[in-house]
Amino acid sequence: MARKFFIGGNWKCNGTNEETKKIVSTLNQAEIPSEDVVEVVVSPPFVFLSLVKSLLRSDIQVAAQNCWVRKGGAFTGEISAEMLVNLGIPWVIIGHSERRLLLNESNEFVGDKVAYALSQGIKVIACVGETLEQRESGSTLDVVAAQTKAIADKISHWDNVVLAYEPVWAIGTGKVATPAQAQEVHSELRKWFHKNVSAEVAESIRIIYGGSVNGANCKELAAQPDLDGFLVGGASVKPEFVDIINSATVKKSA
Ligand code: PGA
Repeated sequence: MARKFFIGGNWKCNGTNEETKKIVSTLNQAEIPSEDVVEVVVSPPFVFLSLVKSLLRSDIQVAAQNCWVRKGGAFTGEISAEMLVNLGIPWVIIGHSERRLLLNESNEFVGDKVAYALSQGIKVIACVGETLEQRESGSTLDVVAAQTKAIADKISHWDNVVLAYEPVWAIGTGKVATPAQAQEVHSELRKWFHKNVSAEVAESIRIIYGGSVNGANCKELAAQPDLDGFLVGGASVKPEFVDIINSATVKKSA
């Protein structure tokens, strides 16, 4: 079974009401492949989720950028998975390196969050990736395996998970991983799933790449056999996001 190409747009902590409407209007007018070819999910800041959901075309889905680790309650400033369900938000990004590194989210905490979001029926874009220091010391594969294991330890079904490999040194730096570097980690992650989860999950899980993806570099990356899409930051709020979505056709013609 072919893995459907997946494009996530992570808008991070950016934008005004007006700018958000403008991005939505660009997307609404864009010509993109049908939903059988590509699954597209954009992730606005929490405060714009309802606005985006109400204005955006129905063939593009919406994700939150985070959610609380357990049931909501007295957790000032947090947003619960139940609230996302209530708003009809189908996806959430969990374990982004900006949260792991700036907010000290541990592998275990990320694993717990993924498990809780899934238990509430929300699909998860789970992020893993090494820092420059870790890459230079040769520990990339150990780092991403440990991050993935911490999730695997907490969940028993991977159907509603997309794994985003996002090397920290490539995020927002303009320094994209080469297609060979990305392919190597994606293929190793797939082997990890084969050995530690199941052959079926290894074959079916979508592993997407993130880190300085843009309109110019997306096609060559998309052609890599173990790369099933992208999580896009900076370029996801620009018109070139449409070109990135269209890179899905590279797979279709392969
Ligand atoms: P970038 O961000 O595309 O701006 O490098 C990617 C991400 O953080 O998901």
